[in-house]
Amino acid sequence: MLLKLLLAFILLMGQVRTDPDSLQDYCVSPPHSPDQHIFLNGDLCKDPTKVTVSDFTTSALSKPGNIRANPFMINVTLTTTTNLPGLNTMGLTMGRIDFGASGVVSPHVHPRASEVTVCLDGVLLVGFVDTSGRVFTQELHPGETFVFPKGLIHFLYNIDTVSSALAVSGLTSQNPGTQFVSLVSFASELPIPQDVLKRLYHINDQEGCC
Ligand SMILES: *[C@@H]1O[C@H](CO)[C@@H](O)[C@H](O)[C@H]1NC(C)=O
Repeated sequence: MLLKLLLAFILLMGQVRTDPDSLQDYCVSPPHSPDQHIFLNGDLCKDPTKVTVSDFTTSALSKPGNIRANPFMINVTLTTTTNLPGLNTMGLTMGRIDFGASGVVSPHVHPRASEVTVCLDGVLLVGFVDTSGRVFTQELHPGETFVFPKGLIHFLYNIDTVSSALAVSGLTSQNPGTQFVSLVSFASELPIPQDVLKRLYHINDQEGCC
């Protein structure tokens, strides 16, 4: 049984690709300039002789994010090539997720990364849906870990209605990207045509939509 699980995990990890490998020890991202006119797949490299240890460290995840500004009572703080320049070309992102009571990271997708989450505090209900519609959910207690395969819709929910919760995630891209199902449907920059949304969500004219 354990061997089968291990095999399945190895097969699964073989299917996901992280960002391309770096051709050098590091390619520390230089300070971002507001008048940048050339855009690359990734960031430029800072002069390697100017690289210092501070390029490889950040306290960005040391403080709880403010959950009050968010209707779902959560806050996600991520490392980026701005707050942690040494991440550039490493194919990694780290995230801190603070949950208020009943806080939820609503269903979303990371198009460019698998995610592995450790629950540090509280009790989380986490899960994902595969492309055949199968749902995999699990309750996570402190110290327990869950993996969300790349590109699949997933969610994290603090099932405690009184206490907060805390989780940390690693993602296999320096730029995982995030698409929330609800925001994509109803809050895209240019709206999806109403007729399409009505068909998609079975909304009729009486119910009023969008
Ligand atoms: C998350 O918390 C940080 C730090 O308190 C805050 O600056 C940021 O606006 C919060 N993000 C959201 C989406 O509420």
